[in-house]
Amino acid sequence: VTGPAQAGPAAASPSVGWQRVGCVVVAAGDGRRLGASRPKAFVDLAGRPLVRHAVDRVLASGVVGQVVAVVGAGWLDEARRVLPTGCQVVAGGIDRQASVAAGLRSLSDRTDVVLVHDAARCLAPSGLVGQVVSAVLAGHRAVVPGLAVTDTVKLVDPDGRVVGTVDREPLRAVQTPQGFAHELLARAHADADLAVGSATDDAGLVERLGEPVLVVPGHWLARKITTAADLQLAGYLVSAGEGS
Ligand code: C5P
Repeated sequence: VTGPAQAGPAAASPSVGWQRVGCVVVAAGDGRRLGASRPKAFVDLAGRPLVRHAVDRVLASGVVGQVVAVVGAGWLDEARRVLPTGCQVVAGGIDRQASVAAGLRSLSDRTDVVLVHDAARCLAPSGLVGQVVSAVLAGHRAVVPGLAVTDTVKLVDPDGRVVGTVDREPLRAVQTPQGFAHELLARAHADADLAVGSATDDAGLVERLGEPVLVVPGHWLARKITTAADLQLAGYLVSAGEGS
């Protein structure tokens, strides 16, 4: 959805003024671990595809002026059919990083703040979107939502034998939407050294530049849907009115 400059949480800060916020929603994965006959983003959840749930929550935040959905090359028409009018649709790439890069190329040059969001985290609440944008507008140029790790974490060898136990206290399981100053994320993607391997999140590319990344509190509803059990649980949550 393209629109005028957004106020949102920035309006509270006189030093920030009007800002343009764009969001890339990556939905071009095949979602093989879900075991469905279509890409995960187009699997139905309570009458709507996952990607639609994700985009609706981003728009409901009221702080995002442009949304670009990145889908598999064969799913462009279907995406245009199921997504709200004005939501741009582009074809993704070989991995998540390439899909994000494709989405970034479609953002307006005048974008100040970029969010990158996984369609697979389709129940991430609109309030979380607003909190991430607020933190970027407050001057943190890379912001990721994260949750403390509550399980005990073991290091194992390829045979499954425990090598050690990790101190979980400083660990955070990070989610999306992740928020960035547009210039920083564009530079991080431009500098991405493919020899180092593809990053599984965008903050990882910013870290490679040596730039600071802030973790803000995440939300349990921003959990990624990966397996059939995750999808079933999400179905119960939607029917119970959670995350709407
Ligand atoms: O595979 P994984 O669950 O880590 O993917 C995270 C997100 O990245 C999903 O929303 C998926 O659709 C997206 N993705 C993508 N293009 C790819 C691979 C994954 O947009 N080539």
